Amino acid sequence: PLKIGVLASGNGSNLQAIIDQVETGVIQARIACVIANKSDAFALERAKRHGIPAFFLDHRAFAGREAYDAAVVETLRGYGVRLVVLAGFMRIITPVLLEAFPLSIMNIHPALLPAFPGLHAQRQALQYGAKISGCTVHFVDEGTDTGPIVIQAAVPVMGNDTEETLAARIQVEEHRIYPQAVRLFAEGRLQVVGRKVTITDVISTQS
Ligand code: GAR
Repeated sequence: PLKIGVLASGNGSNLQAIIDQVETGVIQARIACVIANKSDAFALERAKRHGIPAFFLDHRAFAGREAYDAAVVETLRGYGVRLVVLAGFMRIITPVLLEAFPLSIMNIHPALLPAFPGLHAQRQALQYGAKISGCTVHFVDEGTDTGPIVIQAAVPVMGNDTEETLAARIQVEEHRIYPQAVRLFAEGRLQVVGRKVTITDVISTQS
């Protein structure tokens, strides 16, 4: 089955959602390794609890972003990874990583792209006065949160929301659509033409 590599920086709740669906067989794939750029990322602990090889790669130990990404690529390749899942990975990635995994890197962003890209998307939505926000799973390209959109989900923004309450409402949807996007990829059902991602039907072998 498909081998997935997950990059994270923090709690790893999206990683957990994907682990759960792999373990129940809903996603027919294997999480081959998890890499974090923070030693205290709880994502690493989650990986270990599920017997997944987990690595802390300290960006401060590398000369620059390209050197760091080269080490990430080497680790991912070593595990035979074919899909890279960014799950709260709070680093800009370089062409070194992008070109190693063309149309094979996914990200989840806590806003309805193209609105509110970059950092603090929930804060941006609140400050803008948006009445609806949500989350977006997209393929990663050379821009910041600009790649082809795979799935989106919307949530209301309430008048009394804080960044935290909005983030929590969005995360419920993240944990639903990220595993779904990974599953579609694993099933070979994502077709990308230019900016457009088409979800194809399962090909029936019956006649
Ligand atoms: C998620 O809410 C994700 O949308 C966000 O980080 C969180 C990670 O949570 N990503 C970004 O802001 C990317 N710029 P998790 O570690 O519990 O999965």
